Amino acid sequence: MTSTSPVSGTTATPADSPVAVAGAIDAALSTVRRNIATFGGAYPGDTTVDDRYELRPAEGSIPRGGNRGWTTSFRTGMLWLGWELSGDEAFREAALVDVADFARRVRAEEDLDTHDLGFLYTLSTVAAWRLVGDPAARDASLLAADHLMRRFLEPAGIIQAWGDLSDPAQRGRTIIDSLMNMPLLTWAHEQTGQERFADAVARHTAQLRDHILREDDSTFHTFYWDAATGEPLRGATEQGASDESCWARGQAWGIYGFAMNYAVTGDERLLEASRRCTEYFLRHLPADQVPFWDLVYTDGSDAPRDSSAAAIAVCGLLELAKVETDAARAAEWTTRAHAILASLVENYAPAAPEDSDALLLHSVYDLPKDNGVDEGTLWGDYFYLEALMRVARPEWRKYW
Ligand code: GLY
Repeated sequence: MTSTSPVSGTTATPADSPVAVAGAIDAALSTVRRNIATFGGAYPGDTTVDDRYELRPAEGSIPRGGNRGWTTSFRTGMLWLGWELSGDEAFREAALVDVADFARRVRAEEDLDTHDLGFLYTLSTVAAWRLVGDPAARDASLLAADHLMRRFLEPAGIIQAWGDLSDPAQRGRTIIDSLMNMPLLTWAHEQTGQERFADAVARHTAQLRDHILREDDSTFHTFYWDAATGEPLRGATEQGASDESCWARGQAWGIYGFAMNYAVTGDERLLEASRRCTEYFLRHLPADQVPFWDLVYTDGSDAPRDSSAAAIAVCGLLELAKVETDAARAAEWTTRAHAILASLVENYAPAAPEDSDALLLHSVYDLPKDNGVDEGTLWGDYFYLEALMRVARPEWRKYW
């Protein structure tokens, strides 16, 4: 366990960065504070509606505002970042309310049929363990990691993304986003010494490296394996423009996820995979550095942007720069990350915090299903604040 002093470090804009970090952080934290007052311990929806968050809809036995779905921990992650950036105890207290609820959720086995246990428990209970050494949070994190391991399919060596394991539509399917769920297993390996966690990370990430990344360096959103034989079958999209296109957020998950998993596995082909995702992503950015929701669209298109993909890519580029073995490339990734973040701060953050409940405007959740198009999103907000933290404090220790 490491302990962080929340008020150590600075939030001044680094001299060599074009990003106005300090003002952007102040504005973002003012919104996070207001959202604590608005929502208390209840959870907002995945995305805003007309730039305002509403209470998360009820589903089944989980009431309105309840902890379900894959995005609730992004709020908790923002609270932890807010505490680290400001030292304001109100953020820590609100984060701990969420952490207790995440511990309850995993013990009650509520809405756990998803690979997104990684997103959910890394930013809530693992962060609580890392930052304040909460032993109940550690126990909850290990329970969540055990649940995630139930989705590891032999002989394919992949973690099934969605649905009940017996659901034929989802059987043997994984998605590029899953790279971000591996850190929960890596953390569980560090904590317990059990090789099954590290083995799952190494095998799952190798399968994505070999099959979800295409020869032209773009990525499939999802890929199917034959669950009985382990044979790789085919790529398909769920949220992209077409099976053959490159969904912008998926490519950003690839930049960040391959880089992080390279750092823990030492598999140099994952480093190369992150570089390839990066180069494709950067080649497909429009002039203002923020991608359209699918990289099939380019300058001149009136398709919506996905600012959340840009925020994830900034974090991914800065992580890649940290683990990059080539100094010239590391400098390039850092420069490009700062340019994207500068555009987000100038053009995609609300002009005044009171204009929206979101930290970042103009994201897309799922355009084919007309869900959360041109709205704020909880994950866009989280990664925007993580990106600002990374620029303000390059020594920051990530929760992943
Ligand atoms: N992980 C789901 C998404 O990025 O929409």
